Amino acid sequence: MSILIINIKELIQVRDQNTLKVSGKDMQHLPTIKNAFLLIKNGEISDFGRMESCKNMVADKTIDATDKLVLPTWCDSHTHIVFAGNREQEFVDRINGLSYTEIANRGGGILNSAKTLQNTSEDDLYNQSAQRVKNIIKLGTGALEIKSGYGLTLESELKMLRIIKRITEHFPIKIKATFLGAHAFPEAYLNNKKGYIDLIINEMLPKIGKENLADFIDVFCEKGYFSLEDTETILSAGKQFGLIPKIHVNQFNAFGGVAMGVKHNALSVDHLEELTQEDINVLIGSETMPVALPSCSFFLSIPYTPARRIINSGLPLALATDYNPGSTPSGNMNFVVSTACIKMKMTPEEAINAATLNGAYAMGISEEYGSITKGKKANLIITKPIPSYNYLPYSFGENNIETVIIKGTIIS
Ligand code: NIG
Ligand code: FE
Repeated sequence: MSILIINIKELIQVRDQNTLKVSGKDMQHLPTIKNAFLLIKNGEISDFGRMESCKNMVADKTIDATDKLVLPTWCDSHTHIVFAGNREQEFVDRINGLSYTEIANRGGGILNSAKTLQNTSEDDLYNQSAQRVKNIIKLGTGALEIKSGYGLTLESELKMLRIIKRITEHFPIKIKATFLGAHAFPEAYLNNKKGYIDLIINEMLPKIGKENLADFIDVFCEKGYFSLEDTETILSAGKQFGLIPKIHVNQFNAFGGVAMGVKHNALSVDHLEELTQEDINVLIGSETMPVALPSCSFFLSIPYTPARRIINSGLPLALATDYNPGSTPSGNMNFVVSTACIKMKMTPEEAINAATLNGAYAMGISEEYGSITKGKKANLIITKPIPSYNYLPYSFGENNIETVIIKGTIIS
């Protein structure tokens, strides 16, 4: 089926095939075409340009986008969307004065979610997760990375990864799976950390490799979680099974995790709320994408990733949600884009680049997703009538999306 979108007020994020990420000053540039058309064929972007040049075009369906903008769907490169239940009690505990770390030290936090997940059936967990995926597609997300890491046993980590696979098979959006067995030390291993790392390396990874259940390997490299040395051991083991590193670093403490990620050619280093000049220096000249998660900073009231320092140093930056029950119970990329502008002083151009093309790069899919490019997948947002793309971050909390198209199919 072919779809012709006509009279587009402004077509946003128009790129050639070779642009796979944007860095530094280039992030300030968001190429657009005003008064445009776009033609979709076989689920791909087949043609686009100025309205004058689409005179004799015909398609099975025509959409009139007068007064509306068209942009690529969001690419959310960091989520933990497969989880069971919620942690609303911890939310209230934090309002009453406990910190995220204090709650974790009492057996709350990740271990709390792991306990709930271990006691949730595979079907129930699938249904809870699939509902969240449905909701975020309506919010304009067309590519999604999903992590394991609330299993923390062989059986439950595999359960999570199989559910991610099931989601991949059921939904038309692009999904990448990440093995995050090294998210926290389970209770049974609190005094035997080496034992848990051995379990990850000797039991979990071989099964995951055999069943082809993950694309990436992640580690929560943080004080009280996994040390630099642990991180190196686990990333090296993951690479033996073809898993590409993509890690949690510098959320609360900066102690060399970024350099460790770069040393292992991590596709991305995520969080970076704490960032030293050494971290920036080591990223310069690397192929690793820094990823900021502003709705996590918002929800936990922790510092925001210093986007201006990162971009002004010539580096690229991607934005993602971190959707998870503890630090970010929201998968709304529109809110992420707004928050990046409001709190991190990114311009709308930078934030949209970070949430589309650079997000796609951070999950290794920017050859097919993240921009309006001939031959890329037709994953598109058609907005409601709005004055300009600045209005997207400006009108925070408002839903400006009218239609979402995934691989050429209109999502109702
Ligand atoms: O990215 N920082 C580690 N992991 C998640 C939060 C996990 C949780 O609290 O459940 C994050 O913020
Ligand atoms: Fe995370």
